[in-house]
Amino acid sequence: MADKKRIAILASGFGSNLQAIIDQAQNIDINGEIVLVFSNNENAYALERAKKYGIKSVSFNPGQFESRQQYDKELLVLLKNEKIDLIVMAGYLLLVGQEIIKEFSNKIINVHPALLPSFKGIHGIKDAFDYGVKVTGVTVHFVEEDLDAGPIISQEAVIITEDDTQETLEEKIHKIEHKIYPLAVKYFCNGRLAINGRKVEILKGE
Ligand code: GRF
Repeated sequence: MADKKRIAILASGFGSNLQAIIDQAQNIDINGEIVLVFSNNENAYALERAKKYGIKSVSFNPGQFESRQQYDKELLVLLKNEKIDLIVMAGYLLLVGQEIIKEFSNKIINVHPALLPSFKGIHGIKDAFDYGVKVTGVTVHFVEEDLDAGPIISQEAVIITEDDTQETLEEKIHKIEHKIYPLAVKYFCNGRLAINGRKVEILKGE
């Protein structure tokens, strides 16, 4: 198989998706390796998780720079120095800068806790719950300039029952995220994603 894809994970908080991807990466059938965890929040638990597994962890935030552009430039330098093949956003609460999106075209993926294009933005679970939909879910997609709008890799529905609270819904959503996000990372690393316009085909294979 070709060289392992070098994966960077961008996270701002708890990092449970990072953990799910780490757990899978220990499996031999993924042609990828997490080589960097980056956070804009130096207190992110995601950084602790990285350290525990000996993964390089780096943190800086826009406040340390003259402008947001400078911050993104620094992040781009880091990603290029680490020869990153795939950027995985896992609860990264900032928008990715345009330069990074251009440089890593079709190489950045995100998990969104709703069925896109419904309930875009950072409150996908709450917004779906408050709206009263009976079905919501999880979307994994490529990242483009427009928020939560890139080609969709995978989706899975979650039924909202009458006894669900926002908290129980969150649990259901996270469970699905931890299942389908690592799988999408594996598909990418194993060369099984073919993008054709808005459509992403998952090719057969390992
Ligand atoms: C997840 O719900 C994800 O869908 C959203 O942010 C949350 C991150 O959770 N983008 P975690 O930090 O991976 O636990």
